[in-house]
Amino acid sequence: MKLRSLLALALLTLGVTAAPALRADDPVPREIALTANDAMQFSLAELTAAPGEKIALKLTHVGKLPKTAMGHNWMLFAALPEAEITKLLMDAMKNAPDYLPADRSSILARTKLLGGGESDTVVFTAPAKPGAYPFYCSFPGHFAMMKGKLVVK
Ligand code: CO
Repeated sequence: MKLRSLLALALLTLGVTAAPALRADDPVPREIALTANDAMQFSLAELTAAPGEKIALKLTHVGKLPKTAMGHNWMLFAALPEAEITKLLMDAMKNAPDYLPADRSSILARTKLLGGGESDTVVFTAPAKPGAYPFYCSFPGHFAMMKGKLVVK
């Protein structure tokens, strides 16, 4: 395995368990801008990344409704079967005010829950393994519409 791949794997492992401290020689993350609106829509259904690429995803809620009525977040999951992710999202719906599942071991990255006019950026390392990684908004009732995939290739 090449050193670069090993480094990406190490970053991924660190990223899942704890946020690694930023170092001066770390690559600058590539920014992806995503919006969500009062009609329960993300602006993009498909995002792409290179294996192990460092990404800064900025979610902006461009609506006007408060987060108690129309909250949005961006939650990236491991490539699990859809039924398992649905289970996690059903659990998350019960957990106000942040709507996180009790088992967070499959969440690869997430923003905070936002209301209209707010934004949040999450910096993470894309998975090293090519594939399609699903993302959702975990606010109650939103995951059927607010979903997409991060394609790593
Ligand atoms: Co939402």
